[in-house]
Amino acid sequence: MSDTDTDTDAGAPGARIAPRRVRVHHLAEMKVAGRPITMLTAYDAPTAAVFDEAGIDVLLVGDSIGDNLLGHATTLPVTVEDMLPHVRAVAGRPGRPLVVADLPFGTYEVSAEQAVVTSVRFMKEGLAHAVKLEGGAAMVDRVRAVTGAGIPVMGHLGYTPQSVHHHGGPRVQGRGDAADVLVSDALALQEAGAFAVVLEVVPGPLAQRVTAALEVPTIGIGAGAGTDGQVLVWLDMAGMTEEAPRLAKAYGRLREALLEAASAYAEEVRSRAFPGPEHTVER
Ligand code: KIV
Repeated sequence: MSDTDTDTDAGAPGARIAPRRVRVHHLAEMKVAGRPITMLTAYDAPTAAVFDEAGIDVLLVGDSIGDNLLGHATTLPVTVEDMLPHVRAVAGRPGRPLVVADLPFGTYEVSAEQAVVTSVRFMKEGLAHAVKLEGGAAMVDRVRAVTGAGIPVMGHLGYTPQSVHHHGGPRVQGRGDAADVLVSDALALQEAGAFAVVLEVVPGPLAQRVTAALEVPTIGIGAGAGTDGQVLVWLDMAGMTEEAPRLAKAYGRLREALLEAASAYAEEVRSRAFPGPEHTVER
């Protein structure tokens, strides 16, 4: 067994478990060590390279390409064919982050066999390192079958965007009696072999309860500070969206910067200030 991809700089305050390539077992080690896991969505190679340089541990090629890149209102229309070029662009580059591919709606719900077939495509054609699927107890046989095929699976509970119509919109999940169901769903996913569970838009105390109950890490989005890690859609994180979700935080103003750059370019083309002599081949 080789441990050459592990470089654990334990001891120093704020030190991170810093393998050359993050593997699922490193995330488990981070939970034990109490070191928060950082995760962002990424849909292409240039942004993946920036997030890698920033030290992000996990990149999720989310089916959120549907509502963030492809102009759909929801993630529901996203297909495997839509996803694969994005997964390959992110996972095909060398780098440190673990790359997780989202199984799109309708590509794993029918049966465990369908889940394995779709997951194998993401590993073989997309070069992903793991897959993510939405749902609790009803998905346990899918998780067991996919992990049984040697493919790491990340679970996703709480507000699950592929069930937007079932949830009646993007609403907080796990209130009242639903809290116990969510805890038992999380335990069932863990028992089936999931290496981590995303908790989306659930009350902070419930996310904390699930995190304490699980041995595998939890990754929160709109779930408070009590999870083992955090994930955001990168366009929300960077201020690229016109209006970010209420529970997200923008750490930049990328939309404004891009608008300014595109407007300056248009202005210079119209005034013939661009291209200048330095952008022109004379002979
Ligand atoms: O598709 C996605 O981006 C996601 C995150 C919101 C967790 O599933």
